Amino acid sequence: MSQAEIAQRIAELKEERNAVILAHNYQIAEVQELADFLGDSLGLSQQAAATDADVIVFCGVHFMAQTAKLLSPQKTVLMPDPGAGCPMADMITAEQTRQFKAEHEGAPVVAYVNTTAEVKAESDICCTSANAVEVVNSLDADTVLFIPDMHLADWVARHSDKEIIAWGGYCPTHARISPETIAYMREQHPDAVFLTHPEARREILDMADEVASTGGMVKFARETDAKEIIVGTEEGMVHRLRRENPDKIFYIVPHTVCPNMKRTTVEKLLASLEKMQYPIEVDEEVAERARLTVERMLAVS
Ligand code: 13P
Ligand code: SF4
Repeated sequence: MSQAEIAQRIAELKEERNAVILAHNYQIAEVQELADFLGDSLGLSQQAAATDADVIVFCGVHFMAQTAKLLSPQKTVLMPDPGAGCPMADMITAEQTRQFKAEHEGAPVVAYVNTTAEVKAESDICCTSANAVEVVNSLDADTVLFIPDMHLADWVARHSDKEIIAWGGYCPTHARISPETIAYMREQHPDAVFLTHPEARREILDMADEVASTGGMVKFARETDAKEIIVGTEEGMVHRLRRENPDKIFYIVPHTVCPNMKRTTVEKLLASLEKMQYPIEVDEEVAERARLTVERMLAVS
């Protein structure tokens, strides 16, 4: 089948199944083009909560599809490749979360949305990179436990009066961005501004003109007067930025592929709609507690 035939068949199946395709900004270009909604983790969870489709096909990684299922338990949520996980989300378990809480009694737990449903169920409120500062500052507590991303936690701590106690997780993709690479790129492109994600290390954030979630990057790229932008995040982001801003030049930082984000292909997306595979299920007791944390976040944002 040609790409055009695949796209046509996907459109027919979407109609038949009353399905909607949600995709994260890091997905491959061909998948981004087929999405009904393309966005960051916050935007995707808001869409998942609001859609009246019967089926959500989620092109992203597992915790994102799981979050969609938490918010729309009566809907069928499918992942074209259920093996697409997030290494950072796997850096803390529910048992470790319970221990962390026991060591710091009374402090609320803010779980980055990049966590499993089991970990969310042990937490008080969720956040994404778009609202982490807002969520933490909304809490009636002086000390907050932040899991699992230590770099995002560090960024939040710098924008909050609260004491943040961070778990030691990190995103391997963003952690690969080195100050030497950014300094070299800045030298090569002296007129470019540098945009990065709060999952990157502090030394990288300190070099940035703007630090934002992927949704914030879309807004920044649209509004800035700069004509050249170095994009310090997963490289899939650049496809959308280039498409929406044809008059601007975007530079990809090398070695910024998240292999999990690349597992979803248009062929797998088609198979997903044809065979209704692979449904995401969450244990009901876990889901009930995890859902509360996501809903609390949405109420703040
Ligand atoms: P956002 O799109 O929410 O900024 O998240 C980035 C990310 O790493 C998702 O895995
Ligand atoms: Fe996880 Fe990082 Fe990949 Fe996002 S980019 S899915 S945080 S490993």
